[in-house]
Amino acid sequence: MNDAIYPGSFDPMTLGHFDVIKRASKMFDSLTVSVLDNKAKNALFSVEERVNILREATKDLPNVTVDSFSGLLVDYAREKNIHISVRGLRAITDFEYELQIAQTNRLLSKGMLDTVFLTTSLEYAYLSSSGVKEMASFGGDISPCVPDFVAKLVYEKYKNI
Ligand code: PNS
Repeated sequence: MNDAIYPGSFDPMTLGHFDVIKRASKMFDSLTVSVLDNKAKNALFSVEERVNILREATKDLPNVTVDSFSGLLVDYAREKNIHISVRGLRAITDFEYELQIAQTNRLLSKGMLDTVFLTTSLEYAYLSSSGVKEMASFGGDISPCVPDFVAKLVYEKYKNI
């Protein structure tokens, strides 16, 4: 089986993430989108909320499942018997960071976990979860950046902060 993982923080999932999910789901037999449970990061959405958002967004993609993980990606991938990690590359500024993660994962997994990069579609190249959160926190329009149901959830969060 040709299975892949798409790991990330997804706080929250943007249309850029969704674009990568849709395209990767066509390339692999199965795609597991997995939210990193990183206690060190101060996230806007809980892991459960982020998983629910991704499940709602991907409900019509039959070969996509959504999960969460903590600890090292290589350990999680080994447990799942998956050997490919998918990551989106927006711009050259992402490259250093992504190269570091990809090389570290190859080293830690002794070559058992490789990374496939998908370049983000141009219309989403400027998008980031942190940008979405900043815009929403100042009342900016995030409707071009996230699905409508996600925009509502983001604005609700800032109403209560
Ligand atoms: O969406 P993000 O925050 O850019 O995703 C980063 C992620 C989750 C892919 C990366 O931080 C990760 O895999 N963390 C798990 C810990 C790990 O395996 N570290 C070693 C590789 S740097």
